[in-house]
Amino acid sequence: MRSHQSFYKPRAIGAPAPPREVPFRPSRMIHFLDPSNQKMVSKVPDLTAKTDVLLGNLEDGVHTDNKLAARQGLIQIGREVSFGECQFWTRLNSLDSPWFLDDMLEIIPAIGDKLDVVMIPKVEGAEDMHYVDQLLAQLEAKAKLERPLLVHAILETPSGVNHVEEICAASPRMQGISLGPADLAASRRMKTTRVGGGHPGYVVRGDPDPDDPDAPRTTAQQDLWHYTMARMVDACNEHGCLPYYGPFGDIADVVACEDQFRNAFLMGCVGAWSLHPRQIAIAKKVFSPEPEEVAWAKRVVDSMGDGSGAVMIDGKMQDDATVKQCRVMLDLARLLAQRDPELEKAYGL
Ligand code: GLV
Ligand code: MG
Repeated sequence: MRSHQSFYKPRAIGAPAPPREVPFRPSRMIHFLDPSNQKMVSKVPDLTAKTDVLLGNLEDGVHTDNKLAARQGLIQIGREVSFGECQFWTRLNSLDSPWFLDDMLEIIPAIGDKLDVVMIPKVEGAEDMHYVDQLLAQLEAKAKLERPLLVHAILETPSGVNHVEEICAASPRMQGISLGPADLAASRRMKTTRVGGGHPGYVVRGDPDPDDPDAPRTTAQQDLWHYTMARMVDACNEHGCLPYYGPFGDIADVVACEDQFRNAFLMGCVGAWSLHPRQIAIAKKVFSPEPEEVAWAKRVVDSMGDGSGAVMIDGKMQDDATVKQCRVMLDLARLLAQRDPELEKAYGL
């Protein structure tokens, strides 16, 4: 544990001071691309106008033979593309891989001033974050960077889940956490081969009808990710960082993807990964509050004056707590409206 006095001090002489607060910029979709794939890279300038976050992925999904090309491709994107309002992130290879150290040593000096967030996969505990924090500070100092890089951890190992609170608290650089359902399923020995989403076998079943014991019984599918998502959302909010749902692998199943994203949104996540351009639109729709919800929230806030006491609106009780719920919705809507003229019009704030 670092002391309160040293927590916000730069971890290397000459490194920029770490942030006191995670800046809340829209990040409804973190759009993944493989920087070694020229076809994908050619679409980057167009994508910057359509996505909140573009992420150059160096880890899983990039073939071993292409690891170095992906790293160089990322550096080239960082040097050549103007990102405007869009954030530029990368997912580095895991800390135990043969590539992580050179990823850091090459990428941070070359494009550290262009990157907003560095995503670290397979984080096991706070010690991983301490290592990344220190190394980043050394590289920032060496490259004379003026802006501290932020760090995002993927929650995809049993140890990571068991230590999620410590991971969030490990560094003031912690921007957020994503749930990684594929690696998490594998490392937990879950018996699903899907990437996120529900599973038709994970159900609870009603009792048999005593008068007709052989009649079909109702079942309700349960959410395999509920426990992990809830832990992640609480840990992130306790420590002021942002929670995200990760990948949804069945690209063709846009309906189930929307459901998965919406569950995450309702539970407190601010965004999800998009693995295909069609998931960008889904995330944008789901992680932007509905105009009717925003209008309702505004009505409650306006009716509650200084926010204390209780009133009835349309038969529903409102009090100090519901005002806070409505402010969450309104704050998000205002933030998104600043960036998106369509939403600005739809919300009319
Ligand atoms: C993401 O990296 C996952 O493993 O689901
Ligand atoms: Mg993974």
